[in-house]
Amino acid sequence: MRPRHTSSVDPRPPSRDRRAALFALCASALACALAAAPGTTARAAGPLTVRIGFVAPLSGDYANYGHDLENGVQLALDDANAQGIKIGEQTAHFELIAIDDRADPRQGVQAAARLANQNVAAVVGHFNSGTAIPASRIYESAGIPMIDPAATNPVITSQGFANTFTVIANDAQNAGIAGAWAVEVVKARRIAIVDDRTAFGQGEADVFERTVKEHGGNVVARDFAPIEAGDFGPQLARIKAADADLLYFGGLARQAAALVKQMKARSMNTQFVGGGGVAIPDFVLLAGPAGEGAMAWEYGRPLAQLPEGPRFAQKFKNRFGADVLAYAPFGYDATWAAIHAMAAAKSANPDVFRATLKSLSFDGVTGRIAFDETGALKNGTSTLYQVKQGAWVPVATRGG
Ligand code: ALA
Repeated sequence: MRPRHTSSVDPRPPSRDRRAALFALCASALACALAAAPGTTARAAGPLTVRIGFVAPLSGDYANYGHDLENGVQLALDDANAQGIKIGEQTAHFELIAIDDRADPRQGVQAAARLANQNVAAVVGHFNSGTAIPASRIYESAGIPMIDPAATNPVITSQGFANTFTVIANDAQNAGIAGAWAVEVVKARRIAIVDDRTAFGQGEADVFERTVKEHGGNVVARDFAPIEAGDFGPQLARIKAADADLLYFGGLARQAAALVKQMKARSMNTQFVGGGGVAIPDFVLLAGPAGEGAMAWEYGRPLAQLPEGPRFAQKFKNRFGADVLAYAPFGYDATWAAIHAMAAAKSANPDVFRATLKSLSFDGVTGRIAFDETGALKNGTSTLYQVKQGAWVPVATRGG
């Protein structure tokens, strides 16, 4: 296993000092030029070390998603290192610098500042929209591309930033599809909505509500519970009183599981529908029998149905001894987007490879990766899943 930096404290001296030290040691103009390239350290004859930053919750309630994503990124770097990717004349050696933001916006911004200070060539992250949105401003001013594999609030790529990219469908699409489907296909007549008051959960609930209304649907209750809440008693009492036939939840799997358990305890027959981040095995484990029949709209196509999906799943399991949980394939593709762009541009300097990144197009594990003019993934897809006999089963895929 390759050593990796995983820290909540900057383990390295500031990059400006490191670059100054390298300049002092440089024996040739070429080596000096290489030492100056952001994101890299190089000796004239040796490999080019390229640092890739990664930020996600790696401790706390959402560390399961973070570790899964980090493993996807690490696998991409392992593959690239094994392939001996060339950046210009040099063989690149990619290094991961992973930072835990605990899903907290303040810590997310601090993590971004630390990575900018370490002159990483690119950042893959963050997991949460609530950390990705403020962190994206830091990366933009530092000129570091942020390639996001998991955060899905459409604001991330609508800020007009040159350095922000997403390789996953966003919630304008995912929750929009869910809203239209609830009215047109399910023909739900009395729709309730609960969100977790994060930039992600509230954002997708807002899109869902707007789309339901645009399709002539009837929202009978709109409620919320903060992300740390475990008791949905008051919200479910109101939803039961409103006689809702469908409940859409904007939030992640842990709270979704608590919701369906509490719905069952109240003998509610309301159909539960989650947004992204719900259709993971942890939901089924936490919800138990109450999870049966639950539905969720998730980003992308089922891994088993993708040409490289099964091979990726096996390689991931061999390497980490665990199955893919959620967004690891997107982490893998986001990392390769950076690697492909650097290799094609023959430079690990974002000022040089940014243009290549913008016009990139390649087949990743999750499908074709290419960005529109805002940096958002082109042609994203969404898949509806349902828990059947204790496992999430794909029902239908839209978009693409
Ligand atoms: N898609 C989730 C978010 O944006 C993880 O926060």
